[in-house]
Amino acid sequence: MKIAILGATGFVGRAVLQQAIEEGYDVKVLVRNPAKLAISSDKIKVIQGSLEDKEKVEETLAGCSAVVNAAGGVKGSDQYEAFIKITGILVNAMKRVGIKKLVSINGTGTILPNEYVGFKRRFLSTIVGIFLKHMKDAKKAEMRILLKQTDIDWVSVRANLILKKPATGKVVADDQKMPGGKITLPDLAKFMLDQIDNDQWIHKAPFVAIA
Ligand SMILES: NC(=O)c1ccc[n+]([C@@H]2O[C@H](COP(=O)([O-])OP(=O)(O)OC[C@H]3O[C@@H](n4cnc5c(N)ncnc54)[C@H](OP(=O)(O)O)[C@@H]3O)[C@@H](O)[C@H]2O)c1
Repeated sequence: MKIAILGATGFVGRAVLQQAIEEGYDVKVLVRNPAKLAISSDKIKVIQGSLEDKEKVEETLAGCSAVVNAAGGVKGSDQYEAFIKITGILVNAMKRVGIKKLVSINGTGTILPNEYVGFKRRFLSTIVGIFLKHMKDAKKAEMRILLKQTDIDWVSVRANLILKKPATGKVVADDQKMPGGKITLPDLAKFMLDQIDNDQWIHKAPFVAIA
């Protein structure tokens, strides 16, 4: 199966790309700087460009069965506006090329409308907003667009602290409350890829953690 991975040069995206290659996927990536890719393989087709370029996004998605979006806000500009645009381009490109499934990374900074949020989560969201404003703004914008999408099977995977440690194979997910505060990179990458063929979390934003 061929999939598109966005944000493949990032902390999360590199792990998703690595896991996808280990699982035997053919992958198309859209990256601004191919030199930042951590691995090379004849199973990876690299397209150079920005997520804000709709022609490049459509070229990347063409021929793929699903999109795994590991892109996140970067420092230095208005990431809320950037990701309103980026997510709009992405969902429109998915509709044009006929891809239904989108698995996207998100964080504990993101609170859904009408979601119950206890003290601990509100505190975490506030901290993320102070120290990682670019990340929180980008994913808040993305979520705003995704929540309006009924004809795309999106899943927004929320992680808190991501550890650069080996996989545990013990991942728990819950869309009502945080089941834990930490997850390893390879566990997160595997969970995201598992959602390509799993319909349990469609139109939801589950928190993931290691048990
Ligand atoms: N890092 C964590 O500890 C953590 C914890 C919990 C949740 N999360 C979630 O994971 C998300 C990603 O985090 P991360 O640490 O992987 O971020 P990161 O290392 O900064 O990676 C962001 C990725 O998005 C890409 N990107 C951003 N704007 C782009 C554009 N216009 N065109 C093309 N590519 C673009 C970046 O490309 P370039 O390489 O070209 O900049 C990079 O590949 C966060 O936003 C957050 O929601 C992260």
